[in-house]
Amino acid sequence: MTGICEGRVVAVTGAGRGLGRAHALAFAAEGARVVVNDLGVGLDGTPAADSPAAHVVEEIRARGGEAVAHGGDIATTEGAASLIRTALETYGSLDTLVNNAGFLRDRMLVNLDEEEWDAVVRVHLKGHFLPLKHAAAHWRAEAKAGRVPAARIVNTSSGAGLLGAVGQGNYSAAKAGVVALTLVAAAELARYGVQVNAIAPAARTRMTEQTFAASMAPPQAGFDAMAPENVSPLVVWLGSAESAGVTGRVFETEGGRITVMDGWRRGPSADRGARRTPQEAGETARKLLGEAGEPLPVYGAS
Ligand SMILES: NC(=O)c1ccc[n+]([C@@H]2O[C@H](COP(=O)([O-])OP(=O)(O)OC[C@H]3O[C@@H](n4cnc5c(N)ncnc54)[C@H](O)[C@@H]3O)[C@@H](O)[C@H]2O)c1
Repeated sequence: MTGICEGRVVAVTGAGRGLGRAHALAFAAEGARVVVNDLGVGLDGTPAADSPAAHVVEEIRARGGEAVAHGGDIATTEGAASLIRTALETYGSLDTLVNNAGFLRDRMLVNLDEEEWDAVVRVHLKGHFLPLKHAAAHWRAEAKAGRVPAARIVNTSSGAGLLGAVGQGNYSAAKAGVVALTLVAAAELARYGVQVNAIAPAARTRMTEQTFAASMAPPQAGFDAMAPENVSPLVVWLGSAESAGVTGRVFETEGGRITVMDGWRRGPSADRGARRTPQEAGETARKLLGEAGEPLPVYGAS
């Protein structure tokens, strides 16, 4: 297969269904050899007797592409390390890592228990960090051996991580962490030839098809805006050598729309070169807030 990823080796986590599956198929269609990771868990992360990664590998091969399945848990050192090893042992290289795997345990904060907090923060945040770390160690070794790669990492945040979402305190915190991790990784890894960006997607998958049933339903005719396949082209481009020079950026992507997220930047500010009393600090804060724009609303806030 020919395309903008011809000759590249791409690992996609959580690629057995939903967005990850669409990314894996899209990378293969652009000529990449793909490591399709999926642990095959339920929507809440509980074990399920399923091997969705193997099905996606079959789909890619049926279309004439090359792929191999990996069934490890990417939030463990062994799962993350063996994902990278699978790429190197099967195809001899790794060019792109797409961190995508995850699950939800939604609850209002007052009802959210410690286990639900830990499980969601673990799968998204540690599940991004560990594959990133093991891929980066490989690319650093390559760069030090004089083979500076055109390596790419695409991380998966969420609107919940950028603006917050009611009922998703654990998920929003983890996905905000993914953005900060992306910025740090882009800064640290540039010297090794690695670019790191993040997307905040929206699409119809098992994660969204019930909660947002009305807005996710396919139309009777015309453009199916919420199909996960609409998100993948940007991910493929970010994961290709074509995206040279783009790093440390966050893109919202859904349907036919791509938006560059213009992240935290300093707004109105006042420095008087001396300590304030609490009352003076309050007066200054209120004055500055009067000059600042209104924040975008938290998803689901009434
Ligand atoms: N669907 C949306 O609208 C939307 C919006 C914002 C962000 N996201 C993010 O996009 C990513 C993909 O979500 P999706 O909607 O396709 O959901 P999905 O449930 O269809 O797919 C996620 C996949 O990850 C796998 N997985 C879970 N834990 C794993 C682990 N520890 N190791 C390996 N695989 C694991 C699951 O088995 C599943 O196949 C997630 O990070 C999600 O938070 C999705």
